[in-house]
Amino acid sequence: MNNFEFYNPTKIIFGQGSISKIKKLIPKKSRVLMLYGGGSIKKNGVYLQVADALRKHELFEFGGIESNPDYSTLMKAVKLVKKNKIDFLLAVGGGSVIDGTKFVAVASRYQGEDPWDILSQGLGKSIKKALPIGVVLTLPATGSEMNRNSVISNRKKDLKLSFGSEKVFPKFSILDPKVTYSLPQDQIRNGLVDAYVHILEQYLTYPVGAVVQDRQAEALLMTIHEIAPKALQTDPPDYDARANYMWVCSNALNHLIGVGVPQDWATHGIGHSLTALYGLAHAESLAVVLPWLLWYKREQKQEKLLQYGYRILDQKMQKYSERIDRTIEALSSFFHSLGMPTTLTSYGLDPDKVAEEVQANLAKQDFNRGEHRDISAEDAAAILRLSR
Ligand code: NZQ
Ligand code: ZN
Repeated sequence: MNNFEFYNPTKIIFGQGSISKIKKLIPKKSRVLMLYGGGSIKKNGVYLQVADALRKHELFEFGGIESNPDYSTLMKAVKLVKKNKIDFLLAVGGGSVIDGTKFVAVASRYQGEDPWDILSQGLGKSIKKALPIGVVLTLPATGSEMNRNSVISNRKKDLKLSFGSEKVFPKFSILDPKVTYSLPQDQIRNGLVDAYVHILEQYLTYPVGAVVQDRQAEALLMTIHEIAPKALQTDPPDYDARANYMWVCSNALNHLIGVGVPQDWATHGIGHSLTALYGLAHAESLAVVLPWLLWYKREQKQEKLLQYGYRILDQKMQKYSERIDRTIEALSSFFHSLGMPTTLTSYGLDPDKVAEEVQANLAKQDFNRGEHRDISAEDAAAILRLSR
C-alpha cells in the first residue's frame, strides 16, 4: 500500500426530515446566500423547507446555476456575495450547484486578477481562503457533497476544468433520500453510472496490496449492482433503495477508497471534453469512454481487470484474455441494463471526427492521465475511435 494522508471534515446528516436541522448548523448571525439550479427545488418543496428552516437567518438567494456550471454565471454570484457581505454559502442542489458554490467560495476571497486562473493554472493547492459552505444534496451522483473537488465549465473557451482544495470541503451536508423522489429516471441512471465510474477509476489500475481499499471498492460496486433496479423505480419510489443509492454515491468519491492506491482519472478527463464540445451529460460522457479505455489499456490493467471480472461480474473462465473480453462486455451490458449507451455513435456522433476535435481540446490542457501517466491527448483520440 502506498503512503497516504486522509482528511475529510464534512459532517453528514442523513435521513428523511433532516433539512430543518440546517438552522442549528449555520451560525445565527450569518449572512447566508442560498445557491440553487434551474428551479427543481421550487417544484419539489425543498426550497420551502430550506426557507422555512432559515426564516430567522438573514437569507439571500442566487438561482439559475446551470448543469455543468459556467464560470460567467458563477462570477455573477461572486458579485452578489461581495455586495451583500455574505459570509456563509448554502448549496441546494446536485453536483453542479455544489461545485459552483465551491468556486464562488474561493473566487469571492481570491486576491489574484482573474479567478479562472485557479482552474486554468491548477492553483487549487495554494488556495488560502474560502467562505464556509453547507450543502442540501438533491441529486446523488458526484460525491461533491463530501469531497474537496469542483468542476467548472467555461463555454466561451470550450473548456471544462477542475480544481481541488481542502478549503472547500462542505462544513456539513444534509442527505435526505426523500428529496430524490422527484428525480427523473435518467438522472438516477446518470448518478448510478457516475458513482460506478468513480469507483472504477480508483480501483481498476494495478495492485499495490491494498486489501482494505480493494474490498471497500468492491463492496460499493456490488451495492450498485444490487440496488440499481430498485433505485430506478419511480412509481412508487423505494426509500431504502434511494437511501443506499444516496450513500453509495457519497462513498464512491469521498476520498476514502482512493487513499494509498494508484488512480486513473483519464475517463473523466476525456469525458469533460466531450461535455464541453458536444453537451453530453457528465455520466453519458463517461459511459462512451470507459469500456473502450479498458480495451485500449487491457494489458496494463490486466491484473485488476481479472480481479474485477472474477469478484464482481462473475467472469471466472481460465483463459485470461477471454475473461478480460467478457468482463468489459459485462460492464457495457450493465450500463445498457440501466439505459445508458456506451458508444459515441448512439448519440449520432462520428467517432473519427470526435477523436480529432477532442485531441485538440485536450492538447490545450497538456492532457496526461492514467495510473502510469501514459494516456495523452493522442491516446484519448485512439480510445474514442473505438467507441462505435
Ligand atoms: O437545475 P435544477 O432545476 O435543480 O435541475 C437539476 C438539473 O437539471 C436536476 N435535479 C437535481 N436535483 C433534482 C433534480 N430534478 C428533480 N429533482 C431533484 N431532486 O438534475 C439536473 C442535473 O443536475 P446536476 O447538478 O447538473 O447533475 P450532477 O449532480 O450529475 O452534477 C454534474 C456536475 O458535477 C460534476 C460534473 O462534471 C458536472 O459538472 N462533477 C463533480 C465532481 C466532484 N465535485 O467531485 C465529480 C464528478 O466526476 C463530476 O465531474
Ligand atoms: Zn464523475
